Amino acid sequence: MTSITFKTSKTAPKSISDSITVYAVSAFEKESKLVGTAAKKSELKALNLKAVQISGASEATNRIPVGKQVVGFIGLGEEIENSAHAREIGGAIGRAFADTKNLIIDIPIKNSDMIQALFEGIAIVQYEYNLYKSSESKPKQLKTVLLVSGQTLSKAQLERIKIYSEVLDATRDLVNAPANDLYPSKMAEIVRSQGKIANVKVEIWDEKRLTKEKCTGILSVGKGSVRPPRLVKITYTPPKAKASLALVGKGITFDTGGISLKPATGILGMKYDMAGAATVAQATFAIAKLKLPVAVTAFMCIAENMPSGSATRPNDVITFRNGKSVEVTNTDAEGRLVMADGLVLASEMKPDLIIDIATLTGAARVALGNRYTGLMGDDDSVELVKKAAGASGELVWHMPLPEELRELIKSDIADLMNSRVGNPSGGMLVGGLFLQEFVGSDKNKKRLNWAHLDFATAANNDLAPYGYTVKGATGAMVRTLVSVADELATKKK
Ligand code: BES
Ligand code: MN
Ligand code: ZN
Repeated sequence: MTSITFKTSKTAPKSISDSITVYAVSAFEKESKLVGTAAKKSELKALNLKAVQISGASEATNRIPVGKQVVGFIGLGEEIENSAHAREIGGAIGRAFADTKNLIIDIPIKNSDMIQALFEGIAIVQYEYNLYKSSESKPKQLKTVLLVSGQTLSKAQLERIKIYSEVLDATRDLVNAPANDLYPSKMAEIVRSQGKIANVKVEIWDEKRLTKEKCTGILSVGKGSVRPPRLVKITYTPPKAKASLALVGKGITFDTGGISLKPATGILGMKYDMAGAATVAQATFAIAKLKLPVAVTAFMCIAENMPSGSATRPNDVITFRNGKSVEVTNTDAEGRLVMADGLVLASEMKPDLIIDIATLTGAARVALGNRYTGLMGDDDSVELVKKAAGASGELVWHMPLPEELRELIKSDIADLMNSRVGNPSGGMLVGGLFLQEFVGSDKNKKRLNWAHLDFATAANNDLAPYGYTVKGATGAMVRTLVSVADELATKKK
């Protein structure tokens, strides 16, 4: 893990060894021009930006020698618009200048929230996964970042940057881990040891306990694997909780599809299928480290979905802890089975809000591409999550849960089936509708507040890095879940 010292200073330092100063370039009416103090610097004034191909397009980076020094440039577009934009700009700077020990950033930026976001972007993007490389490609050097600004950051802001980069690194380490080295019991143990540091309670349910607790979905998905499933329950109890939040995450350490086996192309990347579980664990740790006044219980539903003689067959019927029976028509729709257990357990606690997060459907990618997370649920919960995502600069898109699609998961012989094989209509929405059946109600028989996040899109980036998003596991939605706790803590009741 890289740990960077972030500072602000009113004036640019005279000279620091091993440093590059990065100046801002704005693209105004397609013309790139230096802005901020760069525009006043005599040695830079003479530069013909066009001739040296320095662009002001947002996130464009360049470096050139000026006299005896190397100076860097960052394009802002017109200007840094908001915190989300500042975070992306930070990511671009963090990627382009990671080989520099000391970075001085001389760009105009409006307020301390935007500075925090800029620093977050720089910190988050330093992540690399090189556990399995025999030689490190190009080690990251960045140690200090100094922003020339009259604004200062509070201790709490600096603390948040540090905690975010810790938990995002931990999330991405788990999600990137290949499934030969990360299986259910191993994932559970890693989280147990991390829980000690975060000072939260971690309980691990093995197959015996899962049987006793009637966690049928997790058991049914896990039984084809020689590596048995687990449920991990993480509890954070602050002294004065203002609200309670339950989180449920999908933790399929590898999804072969089971007996309904995936083809060679579709199976690739299925080590990422535990991202939801990693996300709820790390978000809970962050909330605990930040001491937010919200009680959190996270359920990680962990299993390996393998085909074998002991695997669940298509047409098998299983009965869940809440009494509902499900015909398993497609063993590749396993996520909703393990998540159903987590949702039933979460509902029993009657929390103020339940959020589940899963790499649930390929259909999410068809509908939303690679960056937007599908968001479903009741209107109030959806609004709250939208607000939290906005505050974190993460992309979510509200999708409906249309009643008429419920027909697609009616079974002839059981209460429900887990997929209508051969009818892919609204695949992401049907996944949401299935999960909704396992959300319990309050004492007035009203369904508990619930939101569902399908991030089969954003959990993993298999394209080029952009903004603060690296290749591979992204750590998407961890910060949004922390912001949900922020929202719950401040919401007046
Ligand atoms: N883990 C997959 C979803 C997925 C696909 C995540 C691609 C990331 C990238 C999930 O378990 C799955 O296989 N879903 C099925 C559901 C269908 C059988 C109803 C799918 O998307 O095909
Ligand atoms: Mn599957
Ligand atoms: Zn899956």
